[in-house]
Amino acid sequence: MYKLLKPLIFNIDPEQAHGMTINALKFIQKHNKLLSAVKSCFDYQQDTLQQQIAGVTFNNPIGLAAGFDKSCEVPKVLEMAGFGALELGGITPKPQPGNPKPRMYRLIDDQAIINRMGFNNIGMNKALSNLRKYAYHVPIGINIGVNKTTPYEERYQDYLKVMETFKYDATFFTVNISSPNTANLQNFHDKDEFAMLCNTLTYFQASQNITQPIFIKLTSDISTTELSQILPTIVDTFDGIILANTTQRRESLTSNNQNETGGLSGKPLFERNLELIKWTYQHTNGDFPIIGTGGIFTADDVIRMMRNGASLVQIYSSLIFEGPTLTKKMNKALASYLQQNNYHNIQELVGLDA
Ligand SMILES: Cc1cc2nc3c(=O)[nH]c(=O)nc-3n(C[C@H](O)[C@H](O)[C@H](O)COP(=O)(O)O)c2cc1C
Repeated sequence: MYKLLKPLIFNIDPEQAHGMTINALKFIQKHNKLLSAVKSCFDYQQDTLQQQIAGVTFNNPIGLAAGFDKSCEVPKVLEMAGFGALELGGITPKPQPGNPKPRMYRLIDDQAIINRMGFNNIGMNKALSNLRKYAYHVPIGINIGVNKTTPYEERYQDYLKVMETFKYDATFFTVNISSPNTANLQNFHDKDEFAMLCNTLTYFQASQNITQPIFIKLTSDISTTELSQILPTIVDTFDGIILANTTQRRESLTSNNQNETGGLSGKPLFERNLELIKWTYQHTNGDFPIIGTGGIFTADDVIRMMRNGASLVQIYSSLIFEGPTLTKKMNKALASYLQQNNYHNIQELVGLDA
């Protein structure tokens, strides 16, 4: 079905196509019969895919990456679509429109996307009331960003504000310091700025009794030297690490849109992020949860990410190119891979090649 629709969808501006998809999903979400139909088409359950990471039960390792549902508009229908977790957002304290359009591009030949959305979202309070319209069985992650207008020295407070707002509703939080589309956000990767952020977070977490796991999401453009400087603080402060967000590098691309400003996601990210995952797994002795993201298109990609150290993965760009049946396809293929190779649980794959 998606193969038939794809040429039509790809004729429409990518952000407009995304808006139409969200509207269609909103419609489905309002009708219980349609929600059940989505579940029977796209959901796939298998005990061998279930694992506990950072105290949270994930029914399968394929999560939805941040950026698809930036304002918590369609989490119920996404739950039915078979993801093992949903990361919603990035959410900022205040609503903001994001960067001027156009700001999202398909790189069809490279199976990649460039975006410079700039944390467009309806703000934490309205996003929270959207989320509260339903109850969920799937882990709900809240990806936190920073408002463009927040003064530089006060930006760490934006993370705290969103956490406080969602503290009764999120299953986990992701501190996103890696969007390239908010000026200087990536400065938080600097050792000293990072230490200050982490001190504040740790104090806040204790004083506000935030009990959910908190993950940190880094840029794909971090070098292993830079990563080694902040890794001990990451392990002390966070419950897991998401590797990695988009890249500003442009290497070996062929599509017309390759010179657009923004973060590049999709296929070209895969090998780079795999290296970061393997390195991090090795330097944390396999003891610290890693969530892999970037260019995961097939069950084989999931298996490679997991064998190199990721416990879970997240996808976004591949959904644009392959359509919504991807989670079911991947989960089915993972379950049969486990069975064929006599593994009892998906967790047994983690780090085998690292
Ligand atoms: C249009 C778009 C918007 C995104 N917005 C966010 C965001 O708000 N927060 C975030 O942490 N990552 C965001 N991302 C990055 C994705 O979550 C993901 O980490 C990245 O795209 C790599 O995965 P992929 O290759 O499967 O897309 C966005 C990606 C795209 C394509």
